[in-house]
Amino acid sequence: MIPPSSPLDSRRDRRGAVLVFDHRDRAVRAIATEIAALIRERARTGHACVLGLATGSTPRGLYAELVRLHREEALSFANVTTFNLDEYYPLAPTHALSYRSYMHAELFAHVDLDPARTHLPSGTVAEADVVAHCADYEAKIRAAGGIDLQILGLGGNGHIGFNEPGSSRDSCTRMVTLAPGTRGAAAADWGDTTPPRYALTMGVRTILDARRIVLLAWGEGKADMVSAAVEGAVTAQVPASFLQEHPQAQFVLDAAAASALTRPSAGSGEPSG
Ligand code: F6R
Repeated sequence: MIPPSSPLDSRRDRRGAVLVFDHRDRAVRAIATEIAALIRERARTGHACVLGLATGSTPRGLYAELVRLHREEALSFANVTTFNLDEYYPLAPTHALSYRSYMHAELFAHVDLDPARTHLPSGTVAEADVVAHCADYEAKIRAAGGIDLQILGLGGNGHIGFNEPGSSRDSCTRMVTLAPGTRGAAAADWGDTTPPRYALTMGVRTILDARRIVLLAWGEGKADMVSAAVEGAVTAQVPASFLQEHPQAQFVLDAAAASALTRPSAGSGEPSG
């Protein structure tokens, strides 16, 4: 087990907040510790904790660590409500590659989360009802009190959730057409079948409404997009760049994912983590 440690680099400046760890396991432990503290603090004061969750390869280690905290350190999820970013459309929740199945396998089945408090957009709602379903998803997030902490991964094209390049800052939960590169990246998982063309996703605004946002990114393959999102212009062409405008958003990186960043000049940052 790798012990927790201080990040290599911690800064918050006008380009957004960045926290770099030498290994992703250390980053995962730091974020899982933050989530556990938030859940426990809310439980202590009799409140729910609302988590926004992502799928994909990036957060697997985080979910494994949360499961470990549940099993070994008595972290209860009884007061937790979850909202996932997205779901393929059309796709049954029981499909092995649905994001509902992913969440069940990685987290929901292993902790004491009330299934009725876990939410994902539906991949089976009738097309005529998609707009109403998406509005209802937004209403459910509001009714839960808003998202306390949103976990994000980073798409190879800069997407967050399935907000592909061109997504407006004001976008809400809606049906989107997946970019060819996004479907290409998913193709390996889908084997002989092709990934769905569409998805339902929280919008950029839905994400930015979260009180705290943690974008996780690992490995050299993400480095250029991390650099564009953190240090480039805020633009709909790189939806993750909108996080620069959120005062409590943080890019939590391993050293490889941070390798294309320019280090801050002395005095430009302040501790953020
Ligand atoms: C997943 C999601 C996507 C992924 C992104 C990175 O719910 O919304 O934005 O976070 O595509 O995927 P990985 O982690 O597989 O590189």
